[in-house]
Amino acid sequence: MNNGITIAISKGRILDESLPLLARAGLEPLEDPGTTRKLVFDTNHDAVRLIIIRAADVPTYVLNGGADLGIAGKDVLMECDSDNLYEPLDLKIACCRLMLAGPKGIPVTPGRLRVATKYVSTTRDYFAEKGQQVEIIKLYGSMELAPVLGLSDLIVDLVNTGNTLKENGLEPLDNIADISSRLIVNKASMKMKQEMIKPFIARLAGAAG
Ligand code: ATP
Ligand code: PRP
Repeated sequence: MNNGITIAISKGRILDESLPLLARAGLEPLEDPGTTRKLVFDTNHDAVRLIIIRAADVPTYVLNGGADLGIAGKDVLMECDSDNLYEPLDLKIACCRLMLAGPKGIPVTPGRLRVATKYVSTTRDYFAEKGQQVEIIKLYGSMELAPVLGLSDLIVDLVNTGNTLKENGLEPLDNIADISSRLIVNKASMKMKQEMIKPFIARLAGAAG
């Protein structure tokens, strides 16, 4: 474990919304992550660096201590072993809902409902709680296409404006969870580096409002 702190953030939407928040908390990368292929960024604080990785990899890096802190969507955290992470702050960015959705009208099928999703574990828990047996089809993106092409009856996916559902002839059926991005912290780092991490959390809490 090095002496500084490493913060893992995913490129795209979360990075775009995190950078202004981090800047308000006094932390800025020395280079614009949007203009290079670099994955590690020094910041205006000598002891703090950012790493830019895939969204689903952020909890993995933080769980294993590759990063001390991370910013990850609640959707991603619900899918992983997040009991072993601290989640001290709701950053209230990248807000959306995880929803069950399908073609207009309740599907009538002879067998089990087929549900396409990238969120296999959350979907399994959701239907188990209802006592309903379903077949879950794992996809990595563009879930809205699955019912259109007959691959599934329903989907579980993120919804924000609702435009993607509407433009593919689907409608929301049930809200499974409200989603926003959270600050996550490695448990050992919180103990060993608390003199750096605690003030950072306080500044970020102030910036998140
Ligand atoms: P990757 O491209 O690395 O596989 P991804 O496609 O899930 O990951 P993004 O689309 O940038 O990456 O989503 C990152 C996070 O942003 C999601 O985990 C979720 O918390 C949130 N998010 C996703 N879609 C939306 C949306 N339409 N509106 C608001 N927030 C969203
Ligand atoms: C996300 C999500 C939905 C869409 C919902 O996709 O997977 O498809 O946003 O947003 P809306 O309700 O505002 O239309 P994203 O834009 O991240 O594309 P991707 O799945 O290709 O990453």
